[in-house]
Amino acid sequence: MTTAAGLPPGPVTTPLQMFRVMFDPDTALLRMVRRYGDPLTDRSAGKPLVFSCTPEGAKQILTADPDTFAVPDPEFLTPILGEHSVLFLVGERHRSERKLINPHFHGDRMRAYGDTVREVAERHIAAWRVGETWSALDQMQSISLEVIIRTIFGVERARVPEFRAAVIEWVTSFSPLIVFFRGLRRDFLGHGPWARLQRARVAIDRMLDEEIASRRRVVSRDGTLGNDILSRLMAARYEDGSAMSDAQLRDELLTLLFAGHETTAISLAWVLYYLLSDPALYARVRAEVDALGSQPTAEAIVQLPLLSAVCNETLRLHPVVPILPPRRLQRPFHFMGYELPPDVMVSIGTLRLHKREDLYPKPYAFIADRFLNRTYSPFEYMPFGGGVRRCIGASFALYEMKIVLAMIVRSTQLSLATDKPVRDQRRNAVLGPSHNLKLLLSSRRSVAG
Ligand code: HEM
Repeated sequence: MTTAAGLPPGPVTTPLQMFRVMFDPDTALLRMVRRYGDPLTDRSAGKPLVFSCTPEGAKQILTADPDTFAVPDPEFLTPILGEHSVLFLVGERHRSERKLINPHFHGDRMRAYGDTVREVAERHIAAWRVGETWSALDQMQSISLEVIIRTIFGVERARVPEFRAAVIEWVTSFSPLIVFFRGLRRDFLGHGPWARLQRARVAIDRMLDEEIASRRRVVSRDGTLGNDILSRLMAARYEDGSAMSDAQLRDELLTLLFAGHETTAISLAWVLYYLLSDPALYARVRAEVDALGSQPTAEAIVQLPLLSAVCNETLRLHPVVPILPPRRLQRPFHFMGYELPPDVMVSIGTLRLHKREDLYPKPYAFIADRFLNRTYSPFEYMPFGGGVRRCIGASFALYEMKIVLAMIVRSTQLSLATDKPVRDQRRNAVLGPSHNLKLLLSSRRSVAG
């Protein structure tokens, strides 16, 4: 195979092009691929980003030797999440950090979190009032935020509101303007988005420090280790026997919150939208959930085939992260017929890959059954990314989504309270449904045992 020198073709960066990529990536990606082919180069974020929307391109990136890549873009999110975040580690440090965090998101640990997810979901659902209209995204965020505060930070229920307020301030002060326009990362005499974000981070750090200190006091007093992820990370040891420092713990907790809270809530809101838009599908999902009886276990819920297919199809159409976090080359890389030089970024356009007609006939239609009739390779379907950086919380997110959905479907009669089109909207680093996704609780129901 011959290898071309230089970078693949791509659009010239103009403010309009940047705007399109930021706010309507689906159309922008489609236009770019049609015009320039695949792979292509996008320069809208500064450094050239070469990406592909094909399974072959995905395979080449996800199976490459991990040492091909350097810290992706240290300036992008480091000032926000902190230098210790697993998102910014590469090579051996990345491997050992994942080894420490990963076990707390799998197997038996998931079962322990299942009860909390269920309790949080049931309490939120019970607070909805019949005849009342609310934003699906706000409600799902409220649930997923409490799940993280309880299961990951291990905060007692009584302190949840205080943590919730601090976290919401931190998350909402994280404006897309700061993400994309780095010139705004300055303090304008205590004003501006950057100053607000810094204040929010200081407040959250203080609360996390208190949690870490109180956990230490409990362990030294009676040797008890909590069930939450913070306690387990405090007890975990790297291969050289060392423990995480307080700064590392804080950065990782905020990374888990940042990566896990909004992504799960957005996906849940989209599932509700598709279920409520298709009464026949809703009825099938409800029948599947009801068949588990009045006291379904979390284990039984997460294995339901149609519920799982509905979640998978939602994540296909709305992968939340439209282009995988770029990988920066630290050595030359043969990619799709090109010899790419160091310092170039490479990535996969998941949003477009998931809408390839050869893989997904009628790509814009919501067809959950496609996931019952066929399995997709990790290079064809990747809402959670892949390779050594695959999402740490993938099982956690799907576990939580299915339990929350089952609780909603079995105990409520909901309907869409809007006939306006719901579209993808930029929400800082990810995409989510526009705010007019409103739901109405028509009545409550119960399932006989
Ligand atoms: C539906 C919900 C979620 C979606 C769609 C999602 C998606 C993703 C994607 C696309 C990546 C990048 C993977 C790559 O670069 O190949 C990622 C990374 C990550 N996610 Fe998730 N995620 C979700 C929920 C969660 C949850 C619940 C957590 C933890 C509580 C979490 C923690 C992480 C972490 C720590 C990383 C960085 C992994 C690394 O760089 O090694 N995510 N996620």
